Amino acid sequence: TFTPRVFSGIKPSGGLTLGNYLGAIKRWVGMQSDDMETVFCMVDLHAITVWQDPAELKNATRELAAGYLASGIDPEKSVLFNQSQVPEHAQLAWIFNCVARVGWMNRMTQFKDKAGKNAEKVSLGLYAYPSLMAADILLYHATHVPVGEDQKQHVELTRDIAAKFNNDYKVDFFPITEPVIEGPGMRVMNLRDGTKKMSKSGVSDMERINMLDDADTIAKKFKKAKSDAEPLPETVEGLVGRPEAKNLVDIYASLSDATPQQVIAEYSGAQWGKFKPALADLAVTKLSPISDEMKRLMDDPAEIDRKLARGAQRAREIATPILDRTYDIVGL
Ligand code: ADP
Ligand code: NA
Repeated sequence: TFTPRVFSGIKPSGGLTLGNYLGAIKRWVGMQSDDMETVFCMVDLHAITVWQDPAELKNATRELAAGYLASGIDPEKSVLFNQSQVPEHAQLAWIFNCVARVGWMNRMTQFKDKAGKNAEKVSLGLYAYPSLMAADILLYHATHVPVGEDQKQHVELTRDIAAKFNNDYKVDFFPITEPVIEGPGMRVMNLRDGTKKMSKSGVSDMERINMLDDADTIAKKFKKAKSDAEPLPETVEGLVGRPEAKNLVDIYASLSDATPQQVIAEYSGAQWGKFKPALADLAVTKLSPISDEMKRLMDDPAEIDRKLARGAQRAREIATPILDRTYDIVGL
C-alpha cells in the first residue's frame, strides 16, 4: 500500500489557457490538504520535445509558475518546482524507455495528432514523451494524477509501465496510479470548433482564452465563439449533438462550481445573445484577480526562482531515495 500522493504538471510551451486552468490547476488547488501530499511541476523537459526559443522558454516557465501561485497553489502546502531542476526525472525516464514497448508508443493518439503526416521528422523526444511522463509520476510514487481528458491515455500507459516494471523485476515497487478526471472542465474545447481541444499551441489565438487576456479580449472572444442557431435547451440531454453549445455550458459550469444541469436550469430557453455576455462576465470575474496577481508576481522573477529552487530541493528529498532504490532493483 502506498501513501496517497498527488502529482501533476503543465508544459511551459506558451501562455496558460482556460483549458489548463479548468482541466488542471483549479482542481489541484482544491486537492491541497493536510492529509494529502501534493506535488506540482512545470514540465520544461516536455516542452522541448518541440523546439522552443530559449529565452521564451525561461520566461514561459516563470509565467507558468506565476499562474500556479496566483491560482492558489501554496508552496507551503504543495511541492512546486521545475522538472529540469530535478535530474532524476530524466534518469528514471531512461529506465522506463527500456521497460515500455515500441508497440505501446505507437498507439498513443496524441503523438499521432501532433506528428500528423510528418512522423519521420518529429523529435525522438516527442515519441518518448509518455515514458518521461510516467517517470514524472512514478518518481514520486504518486497514487493520483488530476489531468484533463486528453491525458487519460498517457496515464494508462504509466500504469502499464509500472505493472511491467513490477512484474519484470518481481517487486511491488511502483504504484498503479489512478487518473482523476471528473467535472465539467475536463474537456474544454476551442471556441471556433467544438470538437478540437483548447490548447496553448495548434489553435489560433481567437480560439482560446488565455489566462492573461484582458476583460475586453475575453468578452470579444466569447461573443465571436461559435454556437448554433438554437437557444439553450430545457435540459442537459438537449446538448447532445451540439458540441459548441455543450462546451460553453460546461465552461460556465466549471467556472461557477456548478453542474451543467444547474446552468441549464438557470438559462433554459435563453438566446446566445444573453448567455454569452453572462459567460464573459463570469470569466472576467473569476480570471482577472488571477491575471492581476500573475503580473504582480512576474515583476519579481528572482522571487519566483527562489521559490522554485526551494521546491526542487523538497522534490529531490522524495525523488532521490526512489531513484536509488530503482537502480538497486535494476542492478545499476
Ligand atoms: P496544452 O495542450 O495546453 O499544451 P498540456 O499538454 O501542457 O496543455 O497539459 C497540461 C494539463 O492541462 C493537463 O492536465 C491537460 O489534461 C490539461 N489540459 C490541457 N488542455 C485542456 C483542455 N482543453 N481541457 C481540459 N484540460 C486541458
Ligand atoms: Na497537451
